[in-house]
Amino acid sequence: MEKIIDGKSISQAIKDECKERCAAYKEKGLDVTLAVIIVGNDPASKVYVGNKKKACTAVGISSLSYELSEDTTEEQLLKLIDDLNNDSKVNGILVQLPLPKGIDEKKVINAISPLKDVDGFHPENVGKMCIGEDGFVSCTPAGIVELLKRSGIKIEGKECVVVGRSNIVGKPMSLLLLRENATVTVCHSKTKDLKEVTRRADILIVAVGKPKMITADYIKEGAVVIDVGIHRDENNKLCGDVDFVDVVDKASAITPVPGGVGPMTIAMLMYNCLESVVLQNQQRD
Ligand code: GUN
Repeated sequence: MEKIIDGKSISQAIKDECKERCAAYKEKGLDVTLAVIIVGNDPASKVYVGNKKKACTAVGISSLSYELSEDTTEEQLLKLIDDLNNDSKVNGILVQLPLPKGIDEKKVINAISPLKDVDGFHPENVGKMCIGEDGFVSCTPAGIVELLKRSGIKIEGKECVVVGRSNIVGKPMSLLLLRENATVTVCHSKTKDLKEVTRRADILIVAVGKPKMITADYIKEGAVVIDVGIHRDENNKLCGDVDFVDVVDKASAITPVPGGVGPMTIAMLMYNCLESVVLQNQQRD
């Protein structure tokens, strides 16, 4: 097992597989199309959306781009989503988050057809994942499971500790690990004695949104450490929620930032776009 988990090369392998699958669909006359919506001018969101569109091109998925101004109303956005839901040429719909103030994120997520919800954020898909039914699984947690499996790290029977309980990462992550037969503990800002809990982890997944918060004293010797955070440190260098330099010697495997979890999110989005074709065809049978 490599100590530094190479998210870049594992994500490339997944994108290569997606490219082959996409080409096979094309031969059958099936084109795969993702509609990407961004509202406003958030610079980080623009970079993420740009990377998602680039990945679509590399894999052979068509992308439709909707760049809406900051003053777009909720009603206008909901109307666009409704049009895309009803457009049979569109397989997947992605609305980049966060949305500007004044637009209700929940309402927007709920408006996306669950069969086109390639982010896996719709309550119907979250529920399906919870009870192990087919549906879209949100990309970052799904990517982390792939990262572990493809790095030869067994999940079954392991003590997994997830730090963070967001709807996008922490909660779905804990459910997916449970589905893989791990023993799962979820920690959050009100957890008493966080270190005592994280030190039990065979696999520690950190999604707290605080730069370099997790130092060596939070880690059991030989643990696998997965870092979901991405920040700029005091020297403007990218860093994660984990203090990599402090933790690296104690961990048996660790994801770097950048080049760890980040690229996996996009690879799994490509995978979900291809799955959308399967789910939509099941519906027609
Ligand atoms: N903002 C941060 N992460 C994500 C993501 O995975 N999907 C969308 N749509 N927005 C995000």
